[in-house]
Amino acid sequence: MDTFYTDLVCVGAGLAGERVAIAAAVAGFESICLSVVPPRRSHSSAAQGGMQASLGNCCMGQGDCPDLHFADTVKGSDWGCDQEVARLFAQTAPVAVREMAFWGIPWNRVVAGKGVYYKAGKAFEKIESAERAGAITARDFGGTAKWRTCYTSDGTGHTLLYTMDNEVVRLGVKVHDRVEAVSLIHDGGSCMGVVARCLKTGKLRVYLGKATLIATGGYGKLYRESTNAVINWGDGAAIALNTGLIPIGNPEAVQFHPTGIVPTNILVTEGCRGDGGTLKDVDEERFMNIYEPAKQELASRDVVSRWMTHHMRMGKGVPSAYGPHLWLDIRHLGAQHIKTKLREVDEICREFLDRDPITQLIPVRPAQHYSMGGVRTDKDGAAYGLRGLYAAGEAACWDLHGFNRLGGNSLAETVVAGRIVGEKIVEFLKGHESDFKTSVVRQAVSREQKRIEALIGSGGNENVYELRAAMGDVLMDQVGIFRNHADLRDAVEKLQVIYDRCRKMGLRSSCVHGANPELSAALRLPGMVRLALCIAQGALTRTESRGAHAREDYPERNDRDWLKRTLAFWKNEDDVLPVLEYEKPSKVWEMPPGERGYGATKIICTLDPEICGLKPETN
Ligand code: FUM
Repeated sequence: MDTFYTDLVCVGAGLAGERVAIAAAVAGFESICLSVVPPRRSHSSAAQGGMQASLGNCCMGQGDCPDLHFADTVKGSDWGCDQEVARLFAQTAPVAVREMAFWGIPWNRVVAGKGVYYKAGKAFEKIESAERAGAITARDFGGTAKWRTCYTSDGTGHTLLYTMDNEVVRLGVKVHDRVEAVSLIHDGGSCMGVVARCLKTGKLRVYLGKATLIATGGYGKLYRESTNAVINWGDGAAIALNTGLIPIGNPEAVQFHPTGIVPTNILVTEGCRGDGGTLKDVDEERFMNIYEPAKQELASRDVVSRWMTHHMRMGKGVPSAYGPHLWLDIRHLGAQHIKTKLREVDEICREFLDRDPITQLIPVRPAQHYSMGGVRTDKDGAAYGLRGLYAAGEAACWDLHGFNRLGGNSLAETVVAGRIVGEKIVEFLKGHESDFKTSVVRQAVSREQKRIEALIGSGGNENVYELRAAMGDVLMDQVGIFRNHADLRDAVEKLQVIYDRCRKMGLRSSCVHGANPELSAALRLPGMVRLALCIAQGALTRTESRGAHAREDYPERNDRDWLKRTLAFWKNEDDVLPVLEYEKPSKVWEMPPGERGYGATKIICTLDPEICGLKPETN
């Protein structure tokens, strides 16, 4: 058995994982990053529109500051986030943007002089002062008081990840790619590392570290229609959940992005609407101005996705072979703008739709995009339940986003949390010596070997791909944008049947050893279905609407009963449902619950001052 010893085992080599590994390297500690793909293929590279940081450089950003960024984030989260974390985040984001500039990010800059810009399809002129020329600029994004989203055209994730990875290479951080962590090694109190599987040889390996980080991104690929990459199956969250000790925070908080292209669900950035693009229906009429007169296309994502779905339900969708969709119109932005600031969108439309966005409309509809839920951690990124285990980025429920993440706060979270959690891990490493227990390691490996042997020799007749597709259908159709008791109840029951059928999986492939993707998928699936059950059961139990969790049968936000975070545990191997516990979302309350200023939600706000120590805001 190949066994690797290091200071930090970093599961995931996207932006968050690499940023943490850099913090460890700078402090003189060794890390090994495990990644199922070469790091530059991580899903971070798919982020397009930008990262929020309150630099206040461009004229539409003037007066911006961490206080406003904090307030937008809390409102965006529908008061579901940890306000201490949101404060830390908003304060650190400007530093992180500048640090990335120092490492080489070619941020778009303020250009002095008069320019024509668009807001919700209408042109206006603005003048950038010569004084600020050359400073990092920003574009408009949903749910923000100021233009705050710093960007590199619409390839911000791409440039950030390549730059971060250059730094990883420069510092000599070790990366083992095409390696998947399959379980955490722990003694019930401390985490010692992971059992992993090499996806090229199929062999198991052991990685032992004083600290372990989960930074595997989200679990969007549980859903049938998602903007996520094929690798976003939730491996990090699943191996944490499988311990029975670590909860998934707010699993029911799932974000749908308004503009996935139809039929492939590839993202076209919110930057399209930020730069002035509009949404149109079958009659090529705008509709967001009717539903959301204040923010229109730039209300927060949960709100826009709901109105789009509502509008299509009213028969206003464009019929297509792939179901109804709406249109995104960026034609008025012009060729020069599209070819420079929205060039990935241009390429996506041409390559995947055979359409020219300069002259044609883009077919879009909401698609699953982001998991606000994840491995629950404290504000230092330390996971609940096991000492020495940390999580960062989308894999974590830190919890910056509560029930709805603002666009541009995800890239920002990866680099900000990576920085903060990295420093906390360094503190931990400085004061810690590990004692790896061989019996614990042996047991962990033997459990995985038995799972592999059982699958290879099972003779079962259930097909892994069919089961996985069935799970995706249930989540998409019954645990989607609008939810209700009957659908959720039914979804939980169907997922339980799928979970049971997972015990009877058999492999179709004859070459079972080595790089066998069917075996990899079969090993993953039970953990994915457990996560799916956490989402569905969390949604069924939460009888209110908050952010992206919209219950048709409970349309109000209910702070009296539900101003709390879900913690979903899978306590025993034989359980068929998660155990749900709850905790207060925040220890520190700077901003009492109130109206978001967009989204037509009625709020039951008989808040017990005990909960937040503050009186609710009156309207
Ligand atoms: O629309 C976008 O560019 C996506 C950004 C995000 O999810 O933060």
